[in-house]
Amino acid sequence: MGTETTAAARVHCQLPGPRSRELFERWAKVEAQCTGYQARVCWDHANGVVVTDVDGNTFIDWTSGVLVTNVGHSHPRLVEAVQTACAKLMNNYECLNEPRVNAAEKLVQILPAHLDKCFFLSTGSEATEACIRLMKRKSGKFEVISFHGGFHGRTYAALGAGGLAGPKKGYGPTLPGSIRVPFPYCYRCPFRASPETCDMLCLDYLDDAVRANSTGSLAGVIVEAYLGAAGFIFAPPGWFPRLEQWIRDRGLLFTLDEVQSSFGRTGKLFAMEWENLAPDLVALGKGIGSGVPASGVAARGEVIGVLGPGEMSSTMGGNPVACAAVVAVVDIMQSEKLHDNALRMGEVMKARLLQIQEKSPYAGDVRGRGLVMGVELVKDKKTKEPAPDLTRKLIDVAAQNGLLIGSVGVFGNVIRVAPPLVISEAETHESLDIFEKSLAQL
Ligand SMILES: Cc1ncc(COP(=O)(O)O)c(C=O)c1O
Repeated sequence: MGTETTAAARVHCQLPGPRSRELFERWAKVEAQCTGYQARVCWDHANGVVVTDVDGNTFIDWTSGVLVTNVGHSHPRLVEAVQTACAKLMNNYECLNEPRVNAAEKLVQILPAHLDKCFFLSTGSEATEACIRLMKRKSGKFEVISFHGGFHGRTYAALGAGGLAGPKKGYGPTLPGSIRVPFPYCYRCPFRASPETCDMLCLDYLDDAVRANSTGSLAGVIVEAYLGAAGFIFAPPGWFPRLEQWIRDRGLLFTLDEVQSSFGRTGKLFAMEWENLAPDLVALGKGIGSGVPASGVAARGEVIGVLGPGEMSSTMGGNPVACAAVVAVVDIMQSEKLHDNALRMGEVMKARLLQIQEKSPYAGDVRGRGLVMGVELVKDKKTKEPAPDLTRKLIDVAAQNGLLIGSVGVFGNVIRVAPPLVISEAETHESLDIFEKSLAQL
């Protein structure tokens, strides 16, 4: 692999650079090595979409952490808001602080009108767990329908609702009452059907699944706005409204997991706005703090109102620093219209990724919306045999060329295209040039 320099991306040594290598060695001695595969780069600092490593190399970032730094790395207004909050008050648990009120007001203001209450927590898993608990509490029932490929976090209920085997392996039985059904992964349809003619038969299958698995104690349904960890898989238009109708017809509760999509990622503030969905509960996380740990539940008042005093709480949830961050993120998102930028740059990305797909023997599928796109790599476009080894190789080649990418997918073969939403057109093209070149080098 050669070393390259372009406008924003400047890699001047073979990766990992000497300082990165030293830190990786020190790290391996003291912390368990159980995280996923990433480029061999030790980050030092980052601004906007540009990351600088400890060896002084710069990279364009297509990861946003893991779809977190939506307003751009270390946005000056976010940094200032957090610094000010830190200097004043960092944690007061459940005692009230003004930033918490401000953040709750901001959140409720930007949510669809039917979601008139929220509650702050600190991680995405905490938020999805809370939604699952709330569906059970409100309905008095315990069964929850969720989807193949779904990922809602690594805590126990979230894990049980998840539809990926990896995070569950080795832990014995998961939470009873989980009924998992296929999501429309149309590139690899489990029914071997085609979206043009199938009339969404995966939705008809829901009734079969309930007949076979439910003991008559269904509480609700939890589903991601698009499957994130499974490979940025988007349902075809019309699927979510039909799912929502199915849920309503059976008097069930509906949780939409927007931990990954919240705040602008898909080109709308919330992904549910694309098809005017009206979930009862929405799990929020990642981008709402844009780097500061913050998550929450947005809810219909009458659903979350089932909880009385002392029934939901979190040590870090609603702390003044996180809440100041949420307020700043919403302000930045709105004043800089970052969701619009996500849509515009997403179109540029999609158009070029589709051209790249035509030329590459490995790019089997290109999908997504706004600035969340997946490129699924295969060994052969006809057989669609997944290419996880090539995907890992591409992560390294792209990093050497100045682009940071990560992978997801049921088969570990999907490249995440998810830069911070502040990416400019020049940075978009530069990063696409690097991606195209790196893919050609495989
Ligand atoms: C859709 C979705 N839900 C929940 C989670 C869990 O969030 P966290 O890692 O903050 O607990 C994730 C994390 O990737 C996610 O993508």
